[in-house]
Amino acid sequence: MSEFTVGIVGCGLISEAHLQAWAKTPGFTVKGVLDTNREQAEKRASQFGIATVYDRLDQMIAECDIVDVCTPPASHAAIAEQAIAGRRHLVMEKPVVTKLADWERIVPKAREQNTKIAVIHNVKYLHSVQTAKRWVDEGRIGDVVRVQREFLTHPDHDRMLVGDNHWSHALPGGRWFETLPHELYLTHWFAGPLELSSVTALASPQAPSGAPADEVLVTLAGGRAIASFHFSAHCRENRRTLMIQGTQGRITVDLLADFPTISSLADSKLRRVVGRQVVEAGATLLRAAPDRGRYGVRKLRKESPHLKIIQALGRHLRDNAEEPTPLAEVDYVIRNCDKIGREIDRQITLARGR
Ligand SMILES: NC(=O)c1ccc[n+]([C@@H]2O[C@H](COP(=O)([O-])OP(=O)(O)OC[C@H]3O[C@@H](n4cnc5c(N)ncnc54)[C@H](O)[C@@H]3O)[C@@H](O)[C@H]2O)c1
Repeated sequence: MSEFTVGIVGCGLISEAHLQAWAKTPGFTVKGVLDTNREQAEKRASQFGIATVYDRLDQMIAECDIVDVCTPPASHAAIAEQAIAGRRHLVMEKPVVTKLADWERIVPKAREQNTKIAVIHNVKYLHSVQTAKRWVDEGRIGDVVRVQREFLTHPDHDRMLVGDNHWSHALPGGRWFETLPHELYLTHWFAGPLELSSVTALASPQAPSGAPADEVLVTLAGGRAIASFHFSAHCRENRRTLMIQGTQGRITVDLLADFPTISSLADSKLRRVVGRQVVEAGATLLRAAPDRGRYGVRKLRKESPHLKIIQALGRHLRDNAEEPTPLAEVDYVIRNCDKIGREIDRQITLARGR
């Protein structure tokens, strides 16, 4: 099997998950790494036994078949354009770009140069989310009428909300723009390309500088489904949930615990006496023991969603297997991130002017 060479640009936090994943993906070898902070690149290179630490992007592009972009989002477009000009394939962390105009310039260039662009929409590859999708596809909850996502965080557990100078604070809409791709591709996957209906951004005096709109509610609608996302910068519970309501049942996924539950109980007098939550709690407990066992095994084997998606991307780039992040999904995410980010900023400006 011929080997593809990979170059990693950006050796910060997420690069570790990429490097672990490429190391377990047959047919690919990470040839070198690059970071504007050379010390950081050297640290990653020695951690993973990588021979080359590049000084310049053009050197990496000359020597690597795939450029894997793990830098902060504002730098993605320039790196992608240089890689495309060098006829290299791209793996890109989300958010792919911070300006829609950059994306609209990149897509035709990539087409011209036959560059494949694969984006890390990794939450689709969480075991719990894959299970939820299988349940939906099997018709276990009927037709999807609602997708609801909560991202309720707090500076105590959100490294991006700490302090005043994390790069995410400068994104459109602040820190929320960094996670918005996850909300949008999940909605697209479960309910199709819903249209943006509304953005409600509350800019309270308690807002941290990274999320000047500290409570945000986004709604989208189309066909028979409605989706909503709630972002909060004040929730010490640290909730990351995905709820999919169907015409015959409901799936709830705790994304942090990677644990899905399903309920499709018809209403009845007995059920009202016992209480729906009590009946559901029993069913959840029965599922929990084997599920938690398998969760532990996945953790021990380091089977992360990044590994799953990079392996799928690998099969796509090497064997032309189905692309795990179709262009229509990526395009939907980028266009709606842009609209939502700009609308949050508009409302913050209005609130500050009052
Ligand atoms: N898919 C996910 O679940 C997930 C999780 C975390 C982060 N991310 C994404 O990954 C990307 C990186 O995030 P992170 O948390 O690793 O950031 P980070 O701040 O930890 O690391 C970024 C690294 O890039 C380097 N860098 C900055 N500009 C550069 C440039 N032009 N060329 C080379 N190196 C440069 C920095 O020195 C730093 O070492 C972001 O797009 C982020 O949104 C995705």
